[in-house]
Amino acid sequence: MASLLHIDSSVRLQGSLSRQLGGEFLAQWQAANPSGTVVTRDLAAQPVPHLTEQMLGAYFTPAEQRNAEQAHTIKTSDVLVDELLAADTIVIGAPMYNFSVPSGLKAWIDHVARAGRTFKYGANGPEGLVHGKKVIVFVATGGVYSNGPAAAYDHVTTYLRAVLGFMGMTDVQFVVAEGVAMGEAAVASALEQSRSQLQAIAV
Ligand SMILES: Cc1cc2nc3c(=O)[nH]c(=O)nc-3n(C[C@H](O)[C@H](O)[C@H](O)COP(=O)(O)O)c2cc1C
Repeated sequence: MASLLHIDSSVRLQGSLSRQLGGEFLAQWQAANPSGTVVTRDLAAQPVPHLTEQMLGAYFTPAEQRNAEQAHTIKTSDVLVDELLAADTIVIGAPMYNFSVPSGLKAWIDHVARAGRTFKYGANGPEGLVHGKKVIVFVATGGVYSNGPAAAYDHVTTYLRAVLGFMGMTDVQFVVAEGVAMGEAAVASALEQSRSQLQAIAV
């Protein structure tokens, strides 16, 4: 059965463009996969904790050797990894905050990038362990980064492509609504372009 993990990270629970576009894609996916399962992770409404020293200690202790406190410490992290591994489609809403991803999304990444579960290091260097996923990322940015003087400051698409690829997720599509701080006409134009892109994504 088709399964989708839907992650949102805009702190705007109302009026968010990344949430709106991701939601429209989700409706399209559900229409095509009526019996598919959807797991929602709203990293703004229900933030996941930042990493702690205790969590790192538990990560690097083999599962069968973890004591009860260590197992409890990384329970959330384990659930997040399980959700990622169980999904075949992953939708991520990722607004640009200060040239990068919101800290809530970064915290999620810090939980799911787990040695031995989502990547490993071998003789040839790092190897991603998360295969067969289709990832669609809905990005919203106030400025324009697809070309022009600010292009080098896009640390959203470049970072997500790198870290998802590091874990083995190489089928990653970005739908970017950019220039949305430049007035209503710019928002309408960005939404129109993003909608035509998302509607063309095979589900
Ligand atoms: C805290 C914060 C930081 C932002 N930083 C940037 C930025 O560095 N560059 C940019 O182009 N837009 C920036 N913006 C504008 C957002 O990317 C834009 O409003 C986008 O639509 C937010 O996504 P959302 O509509 O899904 O909430 C920032 C917005 C907020 C709230």
